[in-house]
Amino acid sequence: MQIGVCYYPEQWPRTMWADDARRMAELGISHVRIAEFAWSRMEPRKGVFDWTWLDEAIETLAARGLKLVLGTPTASPPKWLVDSIPDMLPVRADGTRWNYGSRRHYDIASVAYRKECERITEAMAQRYGRHPAVVAWQTDNELGCHDTVPSYSAAAQQRFQAWLAQRYGSIEALNEAWGNVFWSMEYPSFETVGLPVLTPTDANPSHLLDFRRYMSDEVASFHREQAEVLRRHAPDADVLHNFMGFFTTFDHYEFAANNAIDVATWDSYPIARTEVIGVPEADKARYARTAHPDVSAFDHDRYRAIGAGRFWVMEQQAGPVNWAPWNPVPAKGMVRLWAYEAFAHGAELVSYFRWRQCPYAQEQMHSGLNLPNNELSPGGEEVAQAAREIALSETLRTLGAPAPAAVALVFDYETQWMFEIQRHGVGFDYQTLAFDYYSALREQGLDVDIVSRHADLSAYRLVVVPSLAVLDDAFIAKVEQSDARWLFGPRTGSKTTHFAIPGNLPPGPLQRVLPLQVLEAESLRPTLAPALSLGDVSGAALHWREHVRANEGAQVDATFEDGWPALLSSGRVQYATAWLTHDLHRALLGAAARAAGLDTQTLPEGVRLARRGGLSFAFNFGEAQVRAPAPEGAQFVLGAPELARGDVCAWRDPR
Ligand code: GAL
Repeated sequence: MQIGVCYYPEQWPRTMWADDARRMAELGISHVRIAEFAWSRMEPRKGVFDWTWLDEAIETLAARGLKLVLGTPTASPPKWLVDSIPDMLPVRADGTRWNYGSRRHYDIASVAYRKECERITEAMAQRYGRHPAVVAWQTDNELGCHDTVPSYSAAAQQRFQAWLAQRYGSIEALNEAWGNVFWSMEYPSFETVGLPVLTPTDANPSHLLDFRRYMSDEVASFHREQAEVLRRHAPDADVLHNFMGFFTTFDHYEFAANNAIDVATWDSYPIARTEVIGVPEADKARYARTAHPDVSAFDHDRYRAIGAGRFWVMEQQAGPVNWAPWNPVPAKGMVRLWAYEAFAHGAELVSYFRWRQCPYAQEQMHSGLNLPNNELSPGGEEVAQAAREIALSETLRTLGAPAPAAVALVFDYETQWMFEIQRHGVGFDYQTLAFDYYSALREQGLDVDIVSRHADLSAYRLVVVPSLAVLDDAFIAKVEQSDARWLFGPRTGSKTTHFAIPGNLPPGPLQRVLPLQVLEAESLRPTLAPALSLGDVSGAALHWREHVRANEGAQVDATFEDGWPALLSSGRVQYATAWLTHDLHRALLGAAARAAGLDTQTLPEGVRLARRGGLSFAFNFGEAQVRAPAPEGAQFVLGAPELARGDVCAWRDPR
């Protein structure tokens, strides 16, 4: 459980650095991330490097025993560079170019810019790659942020064509795969394939899907080019990238594959994130100062898998931020709570953004651990408290990793892209559905691993698949070979890999283990809400419902009031034909967990649990003071059973 901070020495007078370093060390900070936006200071003119300031900053921090994470500065190319490669500015969907004057103003498909990125990475890595205090390197910053992937430039078009040629081999194969006979969309050659944008009506979904796959590969290869340079010059350091919460524009599992990163790190701004995701307005209101109780945990559990067990929070909200529609001050305790929450989910390090609020430029309304006048901020006080508690507790300092959970939730990026391409109904968002399932499990006290469809699922007792657009034989084999319970949500198996409806109707290959067929699928306007009860819980379908036929061997477990099946099963495998209201999801997932032999709990509103290294943690995101559900005789190592809003406790189970 280590605490870090993001620091920008280039934004402050040199006379402050030594005192900053001293105060960081005294506060209990172990890691400091620097440099990821400082290209204009490292290389003020092409080929003219000024390392003196960075040398001094690194030595000043290292002298206090602080470990450094260096960021490559490629998210903010300097003006001279942009002027020398004018077509490196990204092209938007409407064909206009972004301007210089903020950040991320580069086209990820620009080969000339990528060469510049390798050049600056090499220069930095040559200088600091073997510095004993530099323990990790971050590539770029939040790839894809500010909608800078996809790119619609001429360069992107050419590289997309090459990508397609590689994938399909012949243009006939592409035309066949995309179904281009429809509307006379057949292409004579790869060089004639354009980008799926600015078409009078919908572009071909197969075209859109391949474009998204191509862009996802571009993001991964952009990182790899830098990672390869870093590995050469900094063989002992961890290589990482700071991902974002709820961000699905590229496939993060693919990004991380083949050791492209050593640790998955992500940037956690829970209050702002709660404002912008698809949770009901009532939840946004209820949790406006604490953030939704599952919003961070969802990504902790996802990035734990993406990092193959190793994850950090690279940027943690430390007070009010500046970029959501509203930016309230967090409730007392939350800045501390978020650190423990991340640790309980397995984080090795939680690094706060940022050391000191910067009184000028774009983020002047964004808090840090210090106010602009250098007084510790309220968030800074809470971080100091957490650091003191950890320093004093042998148990917390030496806590083992979380054990694998009994429940897996499969999350799939390609499914997100496919259902974004054809939502069919405005309310259908796959990630929101996955989050609702996740939340329903977490509300009942369950730990969840969020995993890829390619993960080994054999050890789980319950596997939850909120949806998976494309099912293949390998996935069905996992179902057949495991003795877990499986729950599949709507739209599972509804597409082929080329974005067509399977010949045997959805859910395609799932029919091997659960013989049902989707005859018609409907999206639901808010006034269409087919009613359903599960036991004593009543609710309705939302956004999406399927009219299915149960074939021989399928059992109907629940039926909508209008007679259509809602839940079907065959042995250990169950299918939900609709997106259901949240209470029904809670009932459904609770029943599935109990059928899998797991204990479920009814937690007070806003309370969540997480287990790590033999400890149970409880977090209170709710308004009311509550009692943590610790068993009789539990030995508390953090806090006490009475939890006010924003408080946390942890105990060792006496059994
Ligand atoms: C992140 C970004 C940081 C900072 C922060 C503000 O998206 O990586 O540089 O802008 O947001 O919340």
